[in-house]
Amino acid sequence: MNGHQQSPQSLHWWQRGVVYQIYPRSFKDTSGNGVGDLQGIIDKLDHLNDGTPRSLGVDAMWLSPFYPSPMADFGYDVADYCDVDPLFGDLATFDRLVAEAHRRDIKVIVDWVPNHTSDQHPWFIESRSSRDNPKRDWYMWRDPKPGGLPPNNWGSFFGGPAWTLDEKTGQYYLHQFVKEQPELNWRNPAVRAAMADVLRFWMERGVDGFRIDVIGMLIKDAELRDNPPNPDANPNLPPNDIAGQQMHVYNQDQDEVHDVIREMRQVLDEYEDRCAIGELGFELPRWVKYYGEKGDELHLPFNFRLMEQPWDAQAMRRSVDKLEAALPDFGWPNYVLGSHDSPRLASRLGGQAQARVAAMMLLTLRGTPTLYYGDELGMESGVIPPDKIQDPQGVNLGAERTRDVARTPMQWDDSPNAGFSDVEPWLPVSEDYVTRNVAAQSTDPTSTLSLYRRLLWYRRRSPALYGGSYRSLNVGDEASFVYVRAAGDERRLIALNFSGDPRCIAIPNGGAGEPRFAPPLSPPQAGGRLCPPLSPPQAGGRLSPPLSPPLSPPQAGGRSHALPFAEGGTGQIAISTHMDREEKVSLSNLQLRPHEGVIVEL
Ligand code: GLC
Repeated sequence: MNGHQQSPQSLHWWQRGVVYQIYPRSFKDTSGNGVGDLQGIIDKLDHLNDGTPRSLGVDAMWLSPFYPSPMADFGYDVADYCDVDPLFGDLATFDRLVAEAHRRDIKVIVDWVPNHTSDQHPWFIESRSSRDNPKRDWYMWRDPKPGGLPPNNWGSFFGGPAWTLDEKTGQYYLHQFVKEQPELNWRNPAVRAAMADVLRFWMERGVDGFRIDVIGMLIKDAELRDNPPNPDANPNLPPNDIAGQQMHVYNQDQDEVHDVIREMRQVLDEYEDRCAIGELGFELPRWVKYYGEKGDELHLPFNFRLMEQPWDAQAMRRSVDKLEAALPDFGWPNYVLGSHDSPRLASRLGGQAQARVAAMMLLTLRGTPTLYYGDELGMESGVIPPDKIQDPQGVNLGAERTRDVARTPMQWDDSPNAGFSDVEPWLPVSEDYVTRNVAAQSTDPTSTLSLYRRLLWYRRRSPALYGGSYRSLNVGDEASFVYVRAAGDERRLIALNFSGDPRCIAIPNGGAGEPRFAPPLSPPQAGGRLCPPLSPPQAGGRLSPPLSPPLSPPQAGGRSHALPFAEGGTGQIAISTHMDREEKVSLSNLQLRPHEGVIVEL
């Protein structure tokens, strides 16, 4: 069915829903060892969704890995795909977690790491035992090049070469992350069959979907050719960042990977309504191929593009519009703004006010949003003393690259350790926890948490937002990103001011137009109008009358697009990111305060 024209009511849960990512180590510790666990997640499920607007009201949670692991990459080095590390609990606790989540209508997505195992996985222990072991070909073993050199020039994303020599058998094995993460050989059908059984194991336990780690890396160039140097590489990279200095031509995104993904999808399709989300970050024309030519690969190839944009309204608009234009008819969009691999949203964007506008954008674009735990509080990147750095990327490539900053403990309340644990947590709690925590923000009707709850519950009840069409508008103001979402008679205008100045914008034609995504008629105009600051809201929550005169309708030829402006059109503000106005507004003179986003009912 055509994704653009599907009726909102007929959407799958992974289309209309919102995903919340939990990093289990950092969510809630109940066992008293300073590391979060599955029981902690069960205890906090009401935060995700208790069926009322006092909770976030998310539809699904994605759990980063909780499998048995030596933790060389904090769980992304899996030693057993079908069990739970004792640090996090056991399978019985996992089953209770699924049951409790489902009781609250929360779907469960688990992280699946198929590209590599831990070097402690029994498969690798067997594989490295001898050259003629039946599992030898399950991994990527190669002879040294003359002179004992590694088989090719590839680098590890965590520093150093991607090959380690195994002295005992005299061959190198491939690992594009730490050397404790040997890569599986996905050209071997036995590996595919064993991994398909892993998927079935979790689906039998009730798991609703998988977030598939570095899925575009599963197949490498058949000849393992050298990667070319990257002429645009940052010249200040540390010398051991070999991967950072190369173009990733032969180590990922090979055409044959699509056969593998189609097979995976067939395994998911053995069960009802399961979802495959893949982690990949290729250029748009290559990226869209991961939906499959017939929609028979990933349901959602993760879209990280908004994270790569500067905080600039037109850059965001271009990114969204290009994505919409590139999607195949069956391709459902999705957006990510935070994860366990990047600095915190609020720190990246330069402030809390920007992060609130970003939240409104994420939760009102067409497609499935993924939220990262703690972003609903505006948590900022943690400050990690050098001797506390845990992440191998930070240890090997420099403190400024450590991903620990996004993995600090969830801030529940103002008690010691932020209510995360009774003992010292595995990473330091951010100092702002005393005021930035769930308990404090729950009682403040204008807090970031209150804004997230409001946006999420509004979205749940709005077919236009969770399932309607998307169309960006030319409003003659480069500092604003403005779009309309529509389903049936319901139309919602979203206007986001990315700047620290007040703006006045004029909505062409009262927001009316073609009901589906359409590229802009002309590039957005530079400039736009600054208007005098709005006065603070009066008692009763109303704003004083506009200080600037209404825009007059554009003269013929006065603008590069010819859309007529509706005179006197009005709308009703349903939510402002400042959480202090719900009022009727003129669409020909819509005023936005600095860093303000609004949802307007048309
Ligand atoms: C993915 C994960 C990251 C991990 C890497 C290796 O990028 O998101 O955390 O380190 O894969 O598994």
